[in-house]
Formats: sequence, C-alpha cells, structure tokens
Amino acid sequence: MARPFYVTTPIYYVNDVPHLGTAYTTIVADALRRYHALRGRDARMLTGTDEHGLKIERAATAKNISPKAFVDEVSQHFRNAWPKLLCEPNDFIRTTEPRHEELVKTVWERVAKKGDIYLGEHEGWYCVGCEEFKTEKELLPGNICPLHPNKPTERLKEPTYFFKLKDYEQKLLDLYDQNPGFIEPESRRNEVISFVKSGLRDLSVSRTSFSWGVPVPGDPKHVMYVWFDALANYWTALGDLQKKYWEPNGEVVHLVGKDILRFHTVYWPAFLLSAGLPLPTKVFAHGFLTIDGQKMSKSLRNAVDPVRLAETEALGGPDGLRHQLLRHVAFGQDGDFDHKAIIERYNADLGKNLGNLLSRTLGLCAKNGLDKVPAYAPTDLEREFEKQAAAHIQGAANAWTELAPHRALEETYALSSLANQYVDRAAPWAEAKKGNQERVATILALLLEALRALSVLTWPAIPRKADQIRAQLGLPAIRLGEDQWPKLAFDRAGQALGTASVLFPTIDKEGEKALLDKLQPKPEGIEAPPTTTSSVPGHPSAAPTSTTITYDQFSSVDLRVGLVKTAVKVPKKDKLLQLEVDVGEEKPRTIIAGLALTFAPEQLAGQRVIVVANLAPRDFGKGLVSHGMLLATGPSEKLVLATAPETAAPGAKLK
Ligand code: MSP
Repeated sequence: MARPFYVTTPIYYVNDVPHLGTAYTTIVADALRRYHALRGRDARMLTGTDEHGLKIERAATAKNISPKAFVDEVSQHFRNAWPKLLCEPNDFIRTTEPRHEELVKTVWERVAKKGDIYLGEHEGWYCVGCEEFKTEKELLPGNICPLHPNKPTERLKEPTYFFKLKDYEQKLLDLYDQNPGFIEPESRRNEVISFVKSGLRDLSVSRTSFSWGVPVPGDPKHVMYVWFDALANYWTALGDLQKKYWEPNGEVVHLVGKDILRFHTVYWPAFLLSAGLPLPTKVFAHGFLTIDGQKMSKSLRNAVDPVRLAETEALGGPDGLRHQLLRHVAFGQDGDFDHKAIIERYNADLGKNLGNLLSRTLGLCAKNGLDKVPAYAPTDLEREFEKQAAAHIQGAANAWTELAPHRALEETYALSSLANQYVDRAAPWAEAKKGNQERVATILALLLEALRALSVLTWPAIPRKADQIRAQLGLPAIRLGEDQWPKLAFDRAGQALGTASVLFPTIDKEGEKALLDKLQPKPEGIEAPPTTTSSVPGHPSAAPTSTTITYDQFSSVDLRVGLVKTAVKVPKKDKLLQLEVDVGEEKPRTIIAGLALTFAPEQLAGQRVIVVANLAPRDFGKGLVSHGMLLATGPSEKLVLATAPETAAPGAKLK
C-alpha cells in the first residue's frame, strides 16, 4: 500500500484577502489530495494563515485594532473561503495557535542545541521618534526620518540571533544533487542551485524592534523571524501525526509560488537539517497568474474575487473555476486568467464535450426506452475504443502523480472527445432505425461505461459536478476507501439509470456579453471625472450636482492614507512634482501630481495625504508613470491638500 500523502499550501498572510493567486494553490492542493485519496491513499492537505511579523502588526495598527483581534478576523475569511471553492483541507493552521507556538519553539531549541544559532548585531539607522530601525529606502537624503525631520536618526545596532546558514551551503547542494526531485520544475531547481553556489550568508532569525511574534526560547526580548516561525507550520501542524505523514513514512509535497521558492528550498531544509528532522519530499513552485493579461494588483485581485467566480453558476460554479485553473494553466508556468477565454473554454470542455456526451447518451437511452444499463456485446470498434480509453485513463493517472493537473485533464477530456467521436461513428440512431436493438444496447453500454470512468477521472478537479454526473448515471457519490481509479469493466448491466438534466448549459453570444459585463474587472471605470481632481489637480469648479452612486461604486475606490517620503520637481514641467508615497505597501509608490505651483518639494515630505490608490496608472512620458492620485482642492497656485492626522498609519483605508 502506498505511503500516506501530505500536501501543503503556503500559509497565507492575513494582511490580504483570499484572491485568485492564493485560491490557485489551494485548489491544486485540494485536487491532488482528492486524486491520491481516490487511489486509496491516506491523503492529507494542510493550509492556514501566517499571522506574525511586522507587516501584520502594521496592518492591525492601520485598522486601529490589536494584532490578535485583526488576525482572528482575517484568518476567518480564509477558513470560510476555501470550502466555497470545494477545497476541503484536513487541517487549517494558524501560526498564533498555541499548538504551533509550542512546537516551533522546540524546532528553535533543536537548532540552538546543534550550535547553529549565535547572538550578533544588526546595524542600521534608528529613529528615536519612531522607535524603529529605518531602511535606507525609507530615509530622506542625509538619513533624515521624514516623520521626525528635526530629530536626526542615530546609527544603532540591534541585537539579533543569526542562523549559521553559510555552514549549510554544501549540505544543501548535496541534497539537491542526491534528490533530483526535491525541487521542481527543473528550471526552478537550477535557479536555486546557482543561488546557493553563489554563496550564502548567515541569516538573521530574530527581531527585537517589534513584539508580534513567537518569543525566542530563553530570550523573550527577541521574537522569531517570521519565516522561521512560518515555515515550521508544515511540521508543527501535524503534532502527533508527524510519524504518520512526515518523511520517511509519508510523502510530503509543499506547493509554493515561485516568489517564495528560496525560503522553502534553502532556509527550510537548512533549518530541518540543523534540527535533525527529516526533510519534505518535494517542493514544487508554480507560476504567477495574470488577469486579462495584467499583473494582479490589489484592485484587480479584489475585482476578480474567486468566491464570486465560484458563485457564478453559469460558468459551472466552483467546479467551473477549478476546471479553469487546473486545466488551462500549466502547473509550474505562468498563466493568464482571461475572462473571454474562460467562457470559450467552459463551452469547449464542459459544455460541448463532457456535458454534451452526458446529455446525448442519456437522451439516446431515453429515446430507446432504456432506463437501465444495457448489455454489452463488443465488436472491433468497441475494442479499439477500449484500448484508446485505457491509454487516456493511464495517462491521466501518470499526470496527476507527476503534479501536472493540466495534463491529467487533457487526457480526461480526450477520453470524452473520443467517446463523442465514437457515437458519431457507431451511429446508434441508424442502428435503431434498422431495428438492431442489440447494437444500440452495446453502443449505449459503452458510452455509459465511458461516462462512469469520466465521473471518477474528473472528480479531483470538479468534485461536485462529477458526483452529479454519477447521480444521472444511477451511481452513488464517490466514496473513498479502496483504489477507485477506473477500468472499463462493463459490469453494470441491469442497473438503473438516474434522472437526466443539463449539467453544463453552453453560453451563447448574448450570455457571454452579459457574463463579461458582470465579471470583467473595470479599474478604469472608477477614474474621477475631469471636472474634479486628476493626477494633476486642476481648477475646482463649484461642485456640480453629482449623480448618485451606489455604496458598492463608492467602496470600489481605494482611498488610503499616504505618507509622502520624498518630493522633487519634475524637470521642465512647471506644475509637476514627483512624489514617493508610502501607502502601506512594500515599496512607496511614485505619484506625479500638479502641486508645484503651490508647494515647494520640501513642504510635502512627511505630510500625510489622501491617495486614490487604485486609479489606473497614468503615463507622463519619458518613463514617468503616476501610480495614484492625491486629493486636493483650490486653484493650481493655491491648492489645499486633503491630509490626514499623524495618528493615521500609512496605508490606512478611508471608509
Ligand atoms: N506567508 C507567506 C508564505 C509562508 S509559507 C510558510 C506568503 N504569503 S502570501 O499570502 O503573500 O502568498 C501566498 C502565495 O500566494 C504564494 O505562494 C504566492 O506565490 C501566491 N501568489 C500571490 N500572487 C499570485 C499570483 N498572481 N499568481 C499565483 N500565485 C500567487 O508568501
């Protein structure tokens, strides 16, 4: 019997909501869990939320609530979202849970005991006003803190624990060499190998400048570096089940996005090697999704809400969404989520291929007065079909095992196409006309058997629809246990069929238009009318009577507090200033604003302003692109900026 299978997703940061990117990994993990469970394996899936660290502490501060209250609330969004996508993880871990905190401390202690952790110092610019180290990027020229320009920053050293990562360079290279499947796909493996070969530096694994984290055992002034804490979740979540699911008894597969590959293939194995714990079996890095050809920005991500898509029954509901992501994005490569193509592919695979096969088969049964599976008396035509079908069934199994859901589904729909072609060749309507009932029976028995196989093959990807296919065929919903992978067995003669209904209605041109209107994100639809403000604020007009907007329209405008970090004149443009504004993201944004007739650049640094953060970028030429707009009123030479008080954190949303 195959060993237990343990698949994990990254644990998601709770400063965001579930979006298409996080839904993608979760859906793939769930489909893999389902496939291996179908094969009779004990398959387990883990997901969860990553809740510590400065990022989260700041997001909570921006909302004016305690980090604990913040993470409790947001984590719940993730927990609630996944079942709506038919993802059924066996466990959901939160890094703030005591079960995790206790065990992550034991990992730290093992690493410390090995002698791989030492106390050192982290050096940087300290702003006493803020009580924090500032990175060079956060400072104005002369290392001035924009928030406290009158209090010079000090060069300070923060004590930090370092992990002796450098000592693991060779051990990691040996690991990759001896286990070629440890990192996949191969291109990613090569990337990691050259990174490690280029030399590793010891890693700072604790912080003292904030407290939202797991205290370091024996030195609670320090909290663990959030990645040390987070990576351990895969192991801590198992608790007493470690023996069963972790190596060497279980096969452990971590699915991650390509952006977090290094953490999983360099730091994580190094921590485990140091702690004397077994390593996972494989880390598989998938690519990034774009939406209608565009990089996923926050506003786009919100517009393409996976839960909303899963509620769109016209596209197959949650099964339809899963089908799109699994079938049309080659796992491991980048992929685009193009709304028009989604509809086309829904029609092609689900409507005209699988759905059509089901409706025409059950339709033919009804037409021929059959409410039970008929007897099967194969000819060469059927034998040929059986051979080809067996190859697709095997091909699908191989692809699932090789972590290639897109190929598994390609094989699956190829089987469905084959069956559709077979109906056309076997022409049961012609046989019926000739009164050849035995032949009609055989043809329908074959089609019903192919559909039975398809109801199993599709189950990992579209579990709800697969069970509905089964119900129409008169079969019970999938029950896990023994290996369920299908063989064409033709052993159902005499069994009753279920009730037919259209499972995947195809979408016509009109339906397509209505769906596109409903689903396509429209970030440009929220641009302020030219009579009010623009990236270059113009003259105000006495507010014309405005048309009313709905609350949803209003809330689609992402208004945020921004902290102006730097401001400089734009050469040869009298009115324009180029600002770098912190809106609570990793890096400040560049905003070009028509403020220069009123403000000298130095008046703006340190100001808290109001930013429209989801306005489509505006190109000013010569490489100058504005990523947002400030709110202001007044004529160009006497502008009054809309500002926020000092207590409002950069990135805080206005509601
Ligand atoms: N908390 C860390 C992971 C810790 S795991 C021990 C983290 N969280 S995240 O919420 O920022 O990202 C989670 C996952 O979402 C990553 O694997 C990332 O690659 C993935 N995605 C984010 N945007 C994505 C796309 N546009 N497309 C596909 N996946 C993307 O990183």
